[in-house]
Amino acid sequence: MAEKKELTRRDAVKVAGAATLAGVAATQFGKAPAILKARAATNAVNYGMVGTGSRGTYLLKHLKGIDTGNCVAICDLTDDALGKAQQTIGGNPKRYKDYRELLADKNVEAVFVTTPLFMHFPVTKDALDAGKHVFCEKSLVFKPEEVHALRALATSKPKQVLQTGLQRRYSAMYQAARQMIEKGMLGEVTYVQAQWHRNPGWKMKDVPNKKMANWRLFREYSGGLVAELASHQIDVADRMLGMTPEAVMGLGSQDFMHDGRDILDNVQLIYKYPKGRRLVWTGIPTSSHWAGVGGARTEMGEIICGTKGAIHITIGDDNNKPIGMWFREPTPPPTAADAKKTGKKEAFKAGATMVASAGSRPLPILLSKDLMTGQESFLEKEMKFARMWLYQKGILVPEEDRNPVDIELESFFRDVRTSGHPLADLEVGLQDSIAVILSNIALDEGRTVYFNEMEKLGKGGATPAKPAAKPAVKKG
Ligand SMILES: NC(=O)c1ccc[n+]([C@@H]2O[C@H](COP(=O)([O-])OP(=O)(O)OC[C@H]3O[C@@H](n4cnc5c(N)ncnc54)[C@H](O)[C@@H]3O)[C@@H](O)[C@H]2O)c1
Repeated sequence: MAEKKELTRRDAVKVAGAATLAGVAATQFGKAPAILKARAATNAVNYGMVGTGSRGTYLLKHLKGIDTGNCVAICDLTDDALGKAQQTIGGNPKRYKDYRELLADKNVEAVFVTTPLFMHFPVTKDALDAGKHVFCEKSLVFKPEEVHALRALATSKPKQVLQTGLQRRYSAMYQAARQMIEKGMLGEVTYVQAQWHRNPGWKMKDVPNKKMANWRLFREYSGGLVAELASHQIDVADRMLGMTPEAVMGLGSQDFMHDGRDILDNVQLIYKYPKGRRLVWTGIPTSSHWAGVGGARTEMGEIICGTKGAIHITIGDDNNKPIGMWFREPTPPPTAADAKKTGKKEAFKAGATMVASAGSRPLPILLSKDLMTGQESFLEKEMKFARMWLYQKGILVPEEDRNPVDIELESFFRDVRTSGHPLADLEVGLQDSIAVILSNIALDEGRTVYFNEMEKLGKGGATPAKPAAKPAVKKG
């Protein structure tokens, strides 16, 4: 291309800088574009939120910038959580301490369920029965019987939207990775390695009502590391491999965090998928190093391996944007189609080699905004080309303009208004919960658990968990 030769690095920086600034001005990561705000829905969905703790408040912070939803009610057991939620969302939502009263509020059309895991099913069930649309955080349900009960209930109410809070499904970076796989750019994808490592792991909060405030650390309320962390990444593996697991085995123990908790803190799991595919997941509390993306990010991420290449990918948050890098396989074996074309069989390889062949240079995953459509104006083409040039030099990495959390929330309201179908729907949420439930059985019983065991598990009927008692009034 003539343009390629003429463009210097300095020009590229200028142009791409302008492009980035224009993009930021238009969308401001985490905020709705001004143009969207301007047509602020008179038809906004009136929603309530049950459980306004850490995640609930985080979602409210994002919901504040989304005009297609209108917070009319909040519910939590504690005044502190209610106060923080009210401060975050502003306005004058009604405050409830009993979620059943919020569900009886006719003004509430949709409900966010952001309670601890053991309360997901009771609140979601009652919300669906009350005719509400539901956005429930992952992991969707806690017990085997809840899988069957929620499937039956939600499918009997097809007009009500049920979305699970698996935000990676709404990430442009993860969507681009999936498209690369669909186009065959990774060859046959056979293996996913995923980790969520922290140093240290979750700490026990020393507060009144200690057990409830630290619900994640107690099996009575929580599915531990698998429910809270692995659930996101099992869903990534299912999506990238295009299938769900057949069996899981693993090793789990409590080795490092001895403070009264009863969940495992050191967990390794292997998932067997059809056709020899595997996911290996690890969760430890003694190191946060992640070898993906050149060690540039810590804690969590996935490495998706195929016969022609691999992708290292990790989600972002409000402060760190997602990163996706693509590594081409240095010497990919010829496929059956290649062999047919050349008439050659696979090249001879010695049984033992002294040095492995050099790895490939990482290439950034291009998002749809970076791809040439042929419809660009001259300036847009220049900007895209400049960005591409900078990506290849490693000066810039492609970044999502919007936090997937904003996209999942907007998408929920849109689906409510248009009878749309969520990307993270009932079945996505249930498959994820099934994997979490069976993984914990595999860890506890030290055996291989087959996914078809789920058909029999919990068929006795769901007994909803009892809401935790209201905290005792502090004396003095
Ligand atoms: N998608 C994600 O990335 C993500 C991230 C963090 C948490 N989560 C999920 O969000 C959920 C909440 O986690 P968290 O970190 O906010 O926990 P948290 O303990 O900070 O908040 C939970 C809140 O629910 C309230 N609550 C408990 N029982 C209730 C009831 N019966 N009625 C009303 N309120 C009740 C508690 O008082 C508390 O304020 C969990 O399921 C968790 O897995 C998802």
